[in-house]
Amino acid sequence: MRPQSSSSTQASQQLFSANCTGCHGLDGRGGEHGPNIATNRDVQRLDDRDILRILRDGVPGGGMPGFRSEFNDDQLNAVVRYVRLLQGKHATMIVRGDQKKGEALFFGKARCSECHMIGGKGGFIASDLSGYGQEHSPDVIREAIIDPNKNLEPRRQIVTAITRDGRKYTGIALNEDNFSLQLQTLDGAFHLFEKSGLAKVEHEPRSLMPSNYVSTLSPGDLDDLVAYLAAATTPGGSEPGRDEE
Ligand code: HEC
Ligand code: HEC
Repeated sequence: MRPQSSSSTQASQQLFSANCTGCHGLDGRGGEHGPNIATNRDVQRLDDRDILRILRDGVPGGGMPGFRSEFNDDQLNAVVRYVRLLQGKHATMIVRGDQKKGEALFFGKARCSECHMIGGKGGFIASDLSGYGQEHSPDVIREAIIDPNKNLEPRRQIVTAITRDGRKYTGIALNEDNFSLQLQTLDGAFHLFEKSGLAKVEHEPRSLMPSNYVSTLSPGDLDDLVAYLAAATTPGGSEPGRDEE
């Protein structure tokens, strides 16, 4: 796999998001108006020329427009490269980041492991990210880190319960109805409240995940984290050094 400079990847990502995501989804895995072109094996097996032809001519009668008049050859090639990036073995695509440094950040300075687990280590208030990189392209990983409030499911939003005696519990609601609230707080503990005993329940339309990584991490740190997440495997997978049965 030939290394790509970040600027060319960014340019092709822009072309893809402006012209393709509306139908094929942000990570190419399909949307309302277009099929999965990222992990579908038949599309992966097409060679670059076939994809180029589809981009130029579209699929007449199939709902896929041709981009012959919108894109010049460089742009067409850039989009093909980006489709490959979405399809590819993501880990090998990221030449910029250093997985080892990313791992150190994940469990250290960036404090990701306070909430997320990888390979059986870390917190469990947020999702286990082992294997996340197998399912998501580097760009989607990057976006999840720098813009955690985008595409956040409502049930993963912050909930704060304030008791009548003024104690505050902030976390994620595991269950909520008119009478009770089951909350998991940042320390991982579970709390069950009768709503009658609470002064207030506040819902905030944002994630527990810090939204300022783009300023607290350097671009290099971010690359390292993305490289680490892209390569992290599912627990019990073929990770070297894991020999439990
Ligand atoms: C208006 C919606 C729409 C847009 C925009 C669109 N596509 Fe498609 N695309 C489709 C549909 C629908 C198909 C399936 C056509 C068929 O096979 O019948 C398709 C098929 C494809 C295929 C071939 C899949 C196969 O099974 O062979 C590729 C590759 C592809 N699109 C890439 C792109 C790229 C890259 C862009 C952006 C430059 C793009 N598409 C923009 C709707 C769209
Ligand atoms: C204070 C808790 C917290 C911290 C710290 C945190 N996250 Fe998150 N993160 C969340 C929550 C909550 C979500 C929402 C969905 C979920 O539960 O995964 C999330 C979502 C994500 C997602 C998307 C997961 C998905 O399934 O869509 C990724 C990727 C991610 N975080 C990576 C990171 C990385 C990398 C770091 C460190 C730089 C980090 N997070 C730090 C709480 C946290």
